[in-house]
Amino acid sequence: MHFAVQTWARRGARTALALAMAAGLGAAWAHGDVTPQPMDTRTLPPVGQKWVEDNPYSKGPARTEAVRIGASGYNQNCARCHGLEAISGGIAPDLRKMDEECTSLASQDKKDACFKEVNDYFIGTVRRGRTRDGRVYMPPFEGMLSQEALWAIKTYLESRREP
Ligand code: HEC
Repeated sequence: MHFAVQTWARRGARTALALAMAAGLGAAWAHGDVTPQPMDTRTLPPVGQKWVEDNPYSKGPARTEAVRIGASGYNQNCARCHGLEAISGGIAPDLRKMDEECTSLASQDKKDACFKEVNDYFIGTVRRGRTRDGRVYMPPFEGMLSQEALWAIKTYLESRREP
């Protein structure tokens, strides 16, 4: 199954329910009623043209600003499907839980490697979007939101992790 490759996405019944609902709503989304909203990232340090695999804003001084920009960017571009304040109503995965499995790892090295893997997966998924069996479950954001914007959204999601 599609989700089997994603270690942290194996959530049994909840995921199955989300998928069933997503399948039902796929037809509406396929009409492309999602207009990406631009994000102003000028107050963030630029990351450059080349896509990086790990979140440049997770640690360090830009984090607070990234959370602020990411919160508004998330609410305008992602919340309609993934839920307000990242609390999923069930139609799309709950993005607060993405790195849940990383947080329980014993060593810092393992945690860092796990976060990096999730970050790389996150950025790839959001750039490409999700189309399955010809249905657009999620639109691609490549060319719509900059790398700085997407990492700001990821940093916001990290700030929304469940304890
Ligand atoms: C039109 C609805 C919609 C919008 C808008 C949307 N998503 Fe999604 N997203 C989905 C659905 C549905 C899935 C699950 C797709 C599937 O089942 O393959 C998904 C999957 C994902 C995943 C992979 C999760 C997993 O468990 O594999 C990530 C990461 C993600 N979205 C991030 C975002 C971000 C960040 C934004 C905003 C920039 C966004 N999405 C906007 C509907 C949406």
